[in-house]
Amino acid sequence: MDRRKFMQNAAAVAAASFTAEMTLSQRAEAFEGVMIEGLPYHFSTPVICEPDRERSMAPPGSNIGPGGAPTSKLMAGMADPRLPPMPEKPTLLDFYRYRIPNPSHLLQSANYAMQNNMDEKVILACLLHDISVEGFLRTDHGFWGAQLVRPYVDEEVAWAIQKHQALRFFADDSVGYDYPAVYREWFGMNYEVEPWVQAEYVEAKNHRWYMSARLITLNDLYSFDPNVTDIEIDQFEDVVGRNFKQPKEGLGFDGSPVAHMWRTMIWPNSWL
Ligand SMILES: [Fe+2]
Ligand SMILES: [Fe+2]
Repeated sequence: MDRRKFMQNAAAVAAASFTAEMTLSQRAEAFEGVMIEGLPYHFSTPVICEPDRERSMAPPGSNIGPGGAPTSKLMAGMADPRLPPMPEKPTLLDFYRYRIPNPSHLLQSANYAMQNNMDEKVILACLLHDISVEGFLRTDHGFWGAQLVRPYVDEEVAWAIQKHQALRFFADDSVGYDYPAVYREWFGMNYEVEPWVQAEYVEAKNHRWYMSARLITLNDLYSFDPNVTDIEIDQFEDVVGRNFKQPKEGLGFDGSPVAHMWRTMIWPNSWL
């Protein structure tokens, strides 16, 4: 930023708003207001994503340049200018359109399930299975994803989404599911799951809905053809319409126990 130009510009804008009755300090305040308004935004990282604890708790005035002047203004309000605006009453499809940066893994898995003539519940489960990874939180994504959608889907769908997190680590020869080769690369040759993941697996394996969670892992694609980019969320509009109870107030505004999670996706940087 050219500081001199910036100051001159701010002074000119402020001067245009001066009236004869304004005191000197009121004029100075107006000038300061214009300067702050003209600064670029800086964004805080959500505390959970910032391993540097001190940095995550840094006060708003931390972006101070040489000479003590702020170099940017904090983005602390609701609307993050980097994100597209959301409709007032957002639907599930709106989150795929405006908040999930890259939904292709979800779309391709659901498309694959559709091609395999899976039940609509399974297609929906595939469409939602990694919604947390792609749009909310990666850690424990099966649990977060299941929680996010539980009020709006058949309990079996939410259950399957939660359990796929553990089942993906366990082969099932009876349906032709192998341990994903890419996991050896990501997690190491001798990776063993945590005890609680093991417990989730045992619980799922003995459950009457086991196959629903297993079908997610069977339609979960671990490698993607980067050339297949033409699957749109609209393809699933009917399946979603029939199997996802869209609240009329919009996701985030229906007073459900998970409304705050959807609002967090709408306004991920809000300090309010
Ligand atoms: Fe997953
Ligand atoms: Fe997945």
